[in-house]
Amino acid sequence: MCGIVGYIGKQKAVSILLEGLKRLEYRGYDSAGLAIQQDGKLCISRKTGRVEQLVKETAKLHYTGTAGISHTRWATHGGVTEANAHPHLSSDGKLVLVHNGVIENFAAIKHFLQGKDYTFRSETDTEVLCNLIAYHYAKEPESNAQSRFLESVRKTLLHIEGTYGIAVMCVDRPNEIVAARKGSPLLLGVGDGEYLLASDASALISHTRNVVYLKDGELVHVTPETFAITTLDQADVPPVVDRITWSIADAELNGFAHFMEKEIFEQPAALENAMRGRFSADGSTANFGGLNLAATDFRQIDRFVFCSCGTAWHACLVAEHLIERFARVPVEVDYASEFRYRNAPLDRDALFFFISQSGETIDTLAAMREAKRKGYKVMAICNVVGSSIAREADGGIYQHAGPEIGVASTKAFTSQLLISALFALYVARLRDMSFSDGVNYVQGLKAAPELVRKTLEQAPHIKEIAQRYAQYHDCLFLGRLSLFPIALEGALKLKEISYIHAEGYPAAEMKHGPIALVNEQCPSVFFVPKGELFNKIVSSMQEIKARKGKIIAIVTEGCELPDGLADEVIPIPDCHEAILPIIATVPVQLLSYYIAVARHCDVDKPRNLAKSVTVE
Ligand code: F6R
Repeated sequence: MCGIVGYIGKQKAVSILLEGLKRLEYRGYDSAGLAIQQDGKLCISRKTGRVEQLVKETAKLHYTGTAGISHTRWATHGGVTEANAHPHLSSDGKLVLVHNGVIENFAAIKHFLQGKDYTFRSETDTEVLCNLIAYHYAKEPESNAQSRFLESVRKTLLHIEGTYGIAVMCVDRPNEIVAARKGSPLLLGVGDGEYLLASDASALISHTRNVVYLKDGELVHVTPETFAITTLDQADVPPVVDRITWSIADAELNGFAHFMEKEIFEQPAALENAMRGRFSADGSTANFGGLNLAATDFRQIDRFVFCSCGTAWHACLVAEHLIERFARVPVEVDYASEFRYRNAPLDRDALFFFISQSGETIDTLAAMREAKRKGYKVMAICNVVGSSIAREADGGIYQHAGPEIGVASTKAFTSQLLISALFALYVARLRDMSFSDGVNYVQGLKAAPELVRKTLEQAPHIKEIAQRYAQYHDCLFLGRLSLFPIALEGALKLKEISYIHAEGYPAAEMKHGPIALVNEQCPSVFFVPKGELFNKIVSSMQEIKARKGKIIAIVTEGCELPDGLADEVIPIPDCHEAILPIIATVPVQLLSYYIAVARHCDVDKPRNLAKSVTVE
């Protein structure tokens, strides 16, 4: 949510900032802006709308400065206006700042600053932060020219409640940028005679793969020659330079129309990556390098608690089903945002898992900290290496799905399902699952990439179906057992990218209320896998048909539905039960995607949304 890019070096900053902003646009697209240090001035350009508007604006201005900061905004405080767009300039014109996060005590600070004659041009919390830095800067002795700028940022941050990733420039210090973070991600890219700052690696990877992940409470002072990291209480922090393993091509469209489409088709590879090196030598169970908990400790666990948000929460529901079904250990699933505040009674020997693609979702991070505070061990399943959730967990499992840029999560979700299936196997084999059932399960998991590839071959057929259903206003998604979470996920995908009202339900629950919605104008997507509930689901379909509801059925290949019951049939390959949720997800991703395209929606940047939700 909100993207920051900074640059300092020998090259013209403007094009590097704009390229970075385009890559971070998925984090917010209400407005964009940049500030360049040039000819002893801070030059600022801001535009509402997409980064493209800023590109047009700055093309006229021929900026040549070699240091700058920039921002793409997802509005929190104040509407989508140019005045509220970042960067914000202090009222004395000395300091300029971009910010990702929320300053909770901004009203009190604003009141204080207004008493000192600082003026405000926007409704944002960020402008308050910028002016507070200006206030401290003005108070620092001028003799202290070397550190005056850095110290004024540090002093300001000591008074800030809330979250921030910031980059700041000072007109008096043209060769310096100061950046800091608490609760919002920020990376320093270490180049050859140049440094970049960014909210995530995709914005800097075309310049360098060497990065330093800043931690909460750290500030970095950057010049074209060097950088130094310190804490808010002035302790030096030795930098740890990590190497990004993916390449710029992974963050590009490579011929696909949208990142969502590309990421749907990348799922076979993402699943392979999630499994790589994670099977035992005897092929009967899973191995994890990073859980930091012995097998004997896992045997003591009375209950697993899974917490997350959005799509990742749906992955938790699948994990619940798989762990309870195969390992017979009780699992509780909670929304991270609710867990944090509801003070649930917990088992003594519970183990927590937090699933998060970005590893930065603030609700999930806060819930994790709450569980830790209560003395529980916490595990993370994350895609983004070095993210806050990954770093703060006691152990975890990386997804290795590669960068996910489309706002609607796709490949990260199915990769989370695969890891959940691996984990369920691991726990099951520590308990009652036999060697041969373990071997059979492993074979089932290994088939996932190929079966997803096969399901993706349905894309042209699903695209045709999508054309027929693109103009409806409502849709139900109905599934049972492990496919109930996939019904929720299908409904979420459809509503977030096509703005069609959709709801997911356990198929049999439909008659307890949602069936009131059904008529010719409200189609239902049914998951109809082979198995013991097949006939029950067919009965639910009959009830919909009797009320003239159209039916799209996602059916295991070879299973026969009564003639005329489904209006559309999407076959999926037969598979092991542990990967059924993965296979069944693919058709609903494609259906939502093609419906959104048919409705001319901006698939990768749905309205009001942004990826990586770093505000509460
Ligand atoms: C929906 C979607 C969101 C995220 C949620 C959690 O398509 O992407 O619902 O799943 O915001 O994000 P992460 O996984 O980054 O914690």
